[in-house]
Amino acid sequence: MISTEVRAGQSSYSVLIGSSLLKRIGDLLREKLPPARCAIVSDTNVAPQFADLLQKGLLLADFDPVLITVPAGEESKALEQAGRICEQMIAAGLDRQSFVIALGGGVIGDLSGFVAAIFQRGIPHVQVPTTLLAMVDSSIGGKTGVNTRAGKNLIGAIHQPTMVIDDIDVLKTLPRRVLRQGFAEIIKHAIIADARMFGDLRNETASDAPALQTLIQRNVEIKSNIVAKDELDRTGERASLNFGHTIGHAIECADNYKTILHGEAVSLGIVAACAISVGKAGLPKSDYGSVVDLLKRFGLPTRLPDDFPRHKILDALKFDKKFEGGEIRFVVTPKIGSAHLSRDVTMQDIQAVLDVL
Ligand SMILES: NC(=O)c1ccc[n+]([C@@H]2O[C@H](COP(=O)([O-])OP(=O)(O)OC[C@H]3O[C@@H](n4cnc5c(N)ncnc54)[C@H](O)[C@@H]3O)[C@@H](O)[C@H]2O)c1
Ligand SMILES: [Zn+2]
Repeated sequence: MISTEVRAGQSSYSVLIGSSLLKRIGDLLREKLPPARCAIVSDTNVAPQFADLLQKGLLLADFDPVLITVPAGEESKALEQAGRICEQMIAAGLDRQSFVIALGGGVIGDLSGFVAAIFQRGIPHVQVPTTLLAMVDSSIGGKTGVNTRAGKNLIGAIHQPTMVIDDIDVLKTLPRRVLRQGFAEIIKHAIIADARMFGDLRNETASDAPALQTLIQRNVEIKSNIVAKDELDRTGERASLNFGHTIGHAIECADNYKTILHGEAVSLGIVAACAISVGKAGLPKSDYGSVVDLLKRFGLPTRLPDDFPRHKILDALKFDKKFEGGEIRFVVTPKIGSAHLSRDVTMQDIQAVLDVL
């Protein structure tokens, strides 16, 4: 098992990465949390696979868990669902001494983290991410929240977890397409912060457990280093994590979140952001080519489907929260391994890139 410490404001928390951690969860949590009533929040795909193991592990260490399951899918990340979970927690006797465990992907992490932030004005949250994306991205940094009809993540809170437990065994049941999404965020991290990891990913042949653990650890470090500089997303440092996401989110929105997964939209957004970076930030054309090759290597899309409603992407961009005072806050990369916010990117630049994506 590897342990990495994440700094957040005045406090810090551990991210544990390894095999067979679910059944040891009671022992792992005992140091940080008193034996109390707790809620495991999970979804209809994940709970049947892993909730039993987790519950047994908790009971062994005298925790008293109740399982709350919501339908799998982004639709569950809604205020109504958060309210229902809170009601179930009250009915199950949870109180201010209780805590919440997220057992699932980013949807469950964001939803249950938001519940933990508001229940009794805030109780501890433990992240047990079950997708690669959630391990390398959403479980780190404390952003929690739900969607509204007007857009994603518009209601939420910053609520840092007490501990994050990445049991890599759970990734075995993940559909291949869902696993690949995680690599879109990993490649994003490499482009914005780690040229060496970018090179390693290009040469990677084995995907054995130790290699995967090290890769997850490296990505946790990259994200947490960026978040530590700008926990509340105020100074612009944290914005570099949005690389590929301005256009990626607009693609998801234009698609009505139907056919293209988040990581796939991010892959397309990365291609677009790199193309814009060639013109606006001096990214060498050969680096652009390397990024496209790497995304393809991990089975991620680099072109929009022919029949995609491209015109809707620009409409969606206009509603994006990355617009401030009419200006686009667009993240560019001047060379692989670094990224910064630019105010030079125009709607015309984006239009031109979308025409050839
Ligand atoms: N808080 C943040 O900083 C942050 C960062 C990035 C993304 N997010 C959010 O994360 C969400 C996307 O996360 P995701 O891709 O993990 O989505 P997800 O939680 O919907 O999981 C994807 C699918 O995989 C299933 N699944 C999860 N684990 C499984 C397993 N081990 N075996 C089999 N099936 C499994 C789920 O039921 C779901 O159908 C979005 O809502 C996004 O906004 C948040
Ligand atoms: Zn993302």
